[in-house]
Amino acid sequence: MYREFLRKLAAGEALDKEAYLSLIENRDVIRDEAASLACNLRRRVYGDKIFIRGLIEFTNYCKNQCYYCGIRAGNPHVERYRLMPDEILSCAATGYELGFRTFVLQGGEDPYYTDEILTGIVRDIKAAHPDCALTLSIGERSYESYRKLKEAGADRYLLRHETVNPKHYATLHPASMEWEHRIQCLRQLKELGYQTGAGFMVGSPGQTMEDLADEMIFLRELQPQMVGIGPFIPHQDTPFAKEAAGSAELTTFLLSLIRLTLPNVLLPATTALGTIDPMGREKGILAGANVLMPNLSPADVRDKYLLYDNKICTGDEAAACIACLKMRVEKTGCRIVTERGDFCDASKDASCNTRSFAGANSG
Ligand code: 5AD
Ligand code: FES
Repeated sequence: MYREFLRKLAAGEALDKEAYLSLIENRDVIRDEAASLACNLRRRVYGDKIFIRGLIEFTNYCKNQCYYCGIRAGNPHVERYRLMPDEILSCAATGYELGFRTFVLQGGEDPYYTDEILTGIVRDIKAAHPDCALTLSIGERSYESYRKLKEAGADRYLLRHETVNPKHYATLHPASMEWEHRIQCLRQLKELGYQTGAGFMVGSPGQTMEDLADEMIFLRELQPQMVGIGPFIPHQDTPFAKEAAGSAELTTFLLSLIRLTLPNVLLPATTALGTIDPMGREKGILAGANVLMPNLSPADVRDKYLLYDNKICTGDEAAACIACLKMRVEKTGCRIVTERGDFCDASKDASCNTRSFAGANSG
C-alpha cells in the first residue's frame, strides 16, 4: 500500500494522515525511491540550483525558556553578545563580496532590538544591497512589528512552529509560550506577504510518528514558502541535556516527504543535520533539499550562538565554509548559485507549476 501512497503523493494527490504514517513507518523500504522522486520534482522547479543564505546570528540574548535551546534565558553559562547595526552591516558587506544575495538575520527574542532599531537595520541593509533578499528569524512579535519590518524592506521570515501538536508544544516550552500564538504569527506573516518559513525539530523529546504525519498535513494546509527541519540535538545546559538526539535518517526521509508535498518549497539542509551526521547536508540535498545556510557571523561570536552541542563550523571563516560547501554540493550533482533564490510561485508564474509533469513521469 505504501508504494501506492508514494506514487500518489508524487503525482500531487493529497494524502491523509494514515497514508503519511504508513510512509513514515515503512521508510526504510522506500527511502531511495522517495528521495529520487523528490529530487526529480526539485529539478523541475529549480534545476540543479542550490541556494545559499548568509546567516548573521546577531544576538544570543533571549527572553524565552524553551527547554531544548542552549541560549535560553535560564542558561547562565552563555557568554551573551549583541551585534550593533554597523557590525551587522559589515557582516552583510563581507557576505556580499563572497557572493551571498540573501541575508538571514537570526537572533534570540531580545527586547533590546526594538522595532525602531530593527527597521533601521533592515533599511540600511536593503539600501546597501538592493539586489539582495533579507530574511528575518527573530521569533514572535506583534502584527504591527511584522508590518513595520515588512514595510522597511524585509522579504522573508523564518519562524519554526516546532511541533504541530499543542500538547507536545506545552512539553517543550514553559506555559508562558502558547502554540496558538505561534501559529497566529505564522498566518500573520503570510498575510503580510512575507515568504514565510515554518518548521520543526525531528526527534524532539515526546514526538511521535503520528505527530510527524500531522506535520505533513499541517504543512500542506499552511503552504509555507520555506520549511526548516533538523534533528533535535541535546544541549548540555538545558533541561533536555540527557534526552536522545533525533536521527539523520528520519530527517532526510521527511525532507523527501516535504518536497513531494510542497514541490516548490525552499528547503534547507540544516546545520543541525550536518552536526548529527558528517555527511548530513549532502544527504539532505540528495533527499530533496535545495538551500544551505552557512554562517556569516563574526569569528569572535561564532562559538557563542550554540543552540545545541557540537555545532559544526563554529571555528571556520565564511569563505572557508563556502569553498567546503561548493565541493560537497558538486558531489551531489547539484551546484551552488549566487542568486536571491526566491520562492518559485506557481500562482504568479505558470512556469513554476511543474506538478503535472511529475505525475506523468512518476509511474
Ligand atoms: N536541537 C536542534 N534544533 C534546535 N533548535 C533550537 N534548539 C535546538 C536543539 N537543541 C532549533 C529550533 C529553533 C531553531 C532556530 O533552532 O527549531 O526554531
Ligand atoms: Fe563550514 Fe564545511 S561548511 S567547513
